[in-house]
Amino acid sequence: MKPIVTLLYLSLFLHILTLFVAGQSPPYTPVDNITLACGNSGQPSSNDNREWSGDIDSKFTPIGNASESINAPPSSTASQVPYTKARLSRSKFTYTIPLSPGQKFIRLHFNPDTYSPDFQRSNSLFSVTAASFTLLKDFNASVTADASGGSLLVREFCVNIETGQRLEITFTPSKDAYAFINGIEIISMPTGLYYTSSANFIETIARSYPIENNTALEMVYRINVGGAPISPYADTGMYRTWEAADYIYLDDTSKEFSVLPQNNTIELNFVAVPEYSAPEEVCKTGRSMGMNKTINKSYNLTWVFPLDPKFYYLVRLHFCEFESDITKYGDRSFQIYMANQTAEELADVIGWSGANGNPVYRDYVVGMFMSPVGSQKKVNLFLELAALQRDSYTTYNDAILNGLEIFKLSDSNGNLAGPNPDSPPLAQQIPKSSTTSKSHASLLPIIVGVLSAVLLLLSVL
Ligand SMILES: *[C@@H]1O[C@H](CO)[C@@H](O)[C@H](O)[C@H]1NC(C)=O
Ligand SMILES: *[C@@H]1O[C@H](CO)[C@@H](O)[C@H](O)[C@H]1NC(C)=O
Ligand SMILES: *[C@@H]1O[C@H](CO)[C@@H](O)[C@H](O)[C@H]1NC(C)=O
Ligand SMILES: *[C@@H]1O[C@H](CO)[C@@H](O)[C@H](O)[C@H]1NC(C)=O
Ligand SMILES: *[C@@H]1O[C@H](CO)[C@@H](O)[C@H](O)[C@H]1NC(C)=O
Ligand SMILES: *[C@@H]1O[C@H](CO)[C@@H](O)[C@H](O)[C@H]1NC(C)=O
Ligand SMILES: *[C@@H]1O[C@H](CO)[C@@H](O)[C@H](O)[C@H]1NC(C)=O
Ligand SMILES: *[C@@H]1O[C@H](CO)[C@@H](O)[C@H](O)[C@H]1NC(C)=O
Repeated sequence: MKPIVTLLYLSLFLHILTLFVAGQSPPYTPVDNITLACGNSGQPSSNDNREWSGDIDSKFTPIGNASESINAPPSSTASQVPYTKARLSRSKFTYTIPLSPGQKFIRLHFNPDTYSPDFQRSNSLFSVTAASFTLLKDFNASVTADASGGSLLVREFCVNIETGQRLEITFTPSKDAYAFINGIEIISMPTGLYYTSSANFIETIARSYPIENNTALEMVYRINVGGAPISPYADTGMYRTWEAADYIYLDDTSKEFSVLPQNNTIELNFVAVPEYSAPEEVCKTGRSMGMNKTINKSYNLTWVFPLDPKFYYLVRLHFCEFESDITKYGDRSFQIYMANQTAEELADVIGWSGANGNPVYRDYVVGMFMSPVGSQKKVNLFLELAALQRDSYTTYNDAILNGLEIFKLSDSNGNLAGPNPDSPPLAQQIPKSSTTSKSHASLLPIIVGVLSAVLLLLSVL
């Protein structure tokens, strides 16, 4: 019962958040804002608060042989555009998209499923390139979805488009396999949001590592630490999704002792970083170490993130002090370790941001060049926050984190692709049968709807 209740609260929260955000315009408006529903025509209606445009008979119709549009099977878990139809092909096809110059998000949406006897779920295997970058190589969508425990996949990348350049996204099936795509988003981002610019401080554990226009990025984690999930519609205008799942990446001690401070009433001042950097909800919730000084000092607040080896990663930590006790430099100073190296000898959020209520973020680039253990494909990035041992440097022996983003950086060949995951043990695959997900999916909006109506009634009374 408990998970369902939690789920209910979460969806209710999201629902209210969406209603709330709908009333005001977000801090950032993207110049390019393209949402392509592949294999669709016209404007298929969608219930995700966004309009999607079909790629059939449009200026975005891809070039290539024999690419087909097929409905997802009725049994599919995905009842929502753009997942209801796909463009599939056994030969290469290319989308050519005219864009304004600048840095962009590219989001690829996949619903691996059996679309017809010729297009079986487990038989897709393909590569995707965009501009001069390899985004995915011999990508096995079905096993990737199975390993993630879900049925849908979204992959988010960042690339820079030069003046006069048209973006070409090419899907190339591997031998004897097919390629498919359900949805493509191209959304502009503020210049220098993730790429290096004068306003953007990049610090490297090993050495200086600027992120320039000839680099592509792939988002691997984006987490509202200690808070609720944030839907694309409630982002700051870039339609980013923020997961809430930082708990599952904590080590056991941190799971046991850490606490979740929050302040829903604080007025935030975006003076240290632009308002579009992260949604306010990210800055108003966080995770810290607990109430006991001895215990605070005895453990590191530790998250463990599995990553593909042999890449550099941009790690962005979002901070905001919002507790009324923490108002000046030295109230809560701590240390940050990444990949077992010191990233900050003396971290102090007020020192960086200027005041309580001012959000700020810090960037680090970490190289993950160690070898995986045994037959594992991933290597673990340890992110550790440590309370200061010496009381004279800090009023509270504590640490805080509010949000986190981790991006993989393209290598010198312009490659971002890593290996496919192993298939999960069969036992793990059984619970996520399409019927159970479907019944949840159809039940939730009803419950949320009823609850919202009750709340509305209560607020009117
Ligand atoms: C972006 O495009 C979507 C889909 O057409 C639309 O719903 C949304 O309002 C657009 N956003 C902006 C900021 O123009
Ligand atoms: C990188 O791209 C951005 C946006 O396209 C542009 O404003 C900036 O000048 C470029 N930087 C360099 C160093 O070329
Ligand atoms: C994708 O991976 C699954 C699980 O390892 C495998 O059964 C399937 O054959 C793979 N698909 C292709 C086309 O290689
Ligand atoms: C803090 O934790 C230590 C070790 O568990 C314990 O001995 C001590 O009594 C605790 N202090 C408070 C104030 O709870
Ligand atoms: C915290 O992590 C650092 C780096 O891994 C380590 O040197 C230190 O001993 C840890 N501190 C505690 C209290 O576990
Ligand atoms: C939230 O912030 C406001 C404004 O700084 C402060 O008055 C209030 O005490 C804070 N609440 C908590 C729970 O820290
Ligand atoms: C890094 O530290 C963690 C925990 O503090 C430890 O489990 C891990 O083995 C260390 N990794 C390396 C490469 O030293
Ligand atoms: C330990 O951390 C908590 C917050 O996580 C803080 O309230 C407390 O003051 C810290 N302990 C001490 C005694 O510094």
